[in-house]
Amino acid sequence: MIAGEIVWGWEVGTGKGEGEDMDPTGYPDLDALLPRLDGIDRLDGAALEEERIAVLGRKQGVLTALLRGLPELPAEERRSYGAALNRLKASFQAAFEARTGAARDARGAPSVDLTMPGRRRWVGAVHPVTRAIDEICEIFRSLGFTVAVGPEVEDEWMNFFALNFPRNHPALDLHDTLYLTDGGTDGVEAGKENGGRLLLRTHTSPVQIRVMQEGPPPYRVVIPGMVYRNDPFDPSHAPGFAQIEGLAVDEGIGLVDLKATLTQFIHRFFSPSTRVRLRPSYFPFTEPSGELDIECQLCHGSGCPACKQTGWMELLGCGMVHPKVLENTGVDAERYSGWAFGMGPGRVAMNRYGLPDIRYLYSGDMRLLRQLAGRDA
Ligand code: DAH
Repeated sequence: MIAGEIVWGWEVGTGKGEGEDMDPTGYPDLDALLPRLDGIDRLDGAALEEERIAVLGRKQGVLTALLRGLPELPAEERRSYGAALNRLKASFQAAFEARTGAARDARGAPSVDLTMPGRRRWVGAVHPVTRAIDEICEIFRSLGFTVAVGPEVEDEWMNFFALNFPRNHPALDLHDTLYLTDGGTDGVEAGKENGGRLLLRTHTSPVQIRVMQEGPPPYRVVIPGMVYRNDPFDPSHAPGFAQIEGLAVDEGIGLVDLKATLTQFIHRFFSPSTRVRLRPSYFPFTEPSGELDIECQLCHGSGCPACKQTGWMELLGCGMVHPKVLENTGVDAERYSGWAFGMGPGRVAMNRYGLPDIRYLYSGDMRLLRQLAGRDA
């Protein structure tokens, strides 16, 4: 239906109403009237009124006369004959009413309020986080990357150990990770390519492993997806949120490629003049590791409450892929090297729309989503 289109009332009917199609009653004098019941559809105006009087009229009506004769019948017959007679009368009444209504509609008398507004159309929109993901993937596509995805349920080997997490890393704790099965890290033998408890992945990094297991380098992929952590829903945490991972592995890739590619991405996504800084950090799966900040999008570097007066906003974690990670997936770390990054498109969307609370994005509040749907970045 088109927005603003006037919604017309009921379709002009055939004149058939409820209870009007009637089966024979088994009483010849009543069944003799059934053809007349059928004929009502074809009557109009005066002929219709004449027939109504002839059947239901108080003085001459055939049915009225039959009803009047009821008390004279023997008691046993009166009951079922009376019931059939009443059904027939109801059918005639319905047929006359339906036909009169149809005739009125056919004359064009409006049966609906034409000033009533049309039905609103549902207009969908892309969710702000999905929109950020799409734009980010599109920029990386133009830089030669493809998109890869992986499962949200992983085991400990995929989520942690293949990525060079030590067995006692705090991220493995129940406080942080949502496990789906019991057991323990004992189930994971050193060097074994899978195993341990099943869990909801805490980051998209295990898909790096899956990509590298597929075949030999080069790899250039971005990996969007949901990740889960044992966190309460508060202004800066969500138990489930989106991430985008990036991975580039080839011969002769160095830190300069990481910095140049990510700077190029930021200049395209934010603006060509956005300042970028890379500072040292730590992740088990990268060496060296870094965190990339961009100039605060609200104050542009002068300092404001949003950037805690620093002038910078943290955008993503990154680093050179740890040789152990390459080896864990059978990639020759002597020959190949690469870099990786992980970022939260939810945070990107919060920066973009100035949202103070991540719950706006992940609680499905249509009032907010509807406002953002109509807004450009
Ligand atoms: N997996 C990290 C996290 O969830 C993010 C990350 C940091 C991913 C550095 C990377 C990386 O690929 O190189 O916090």
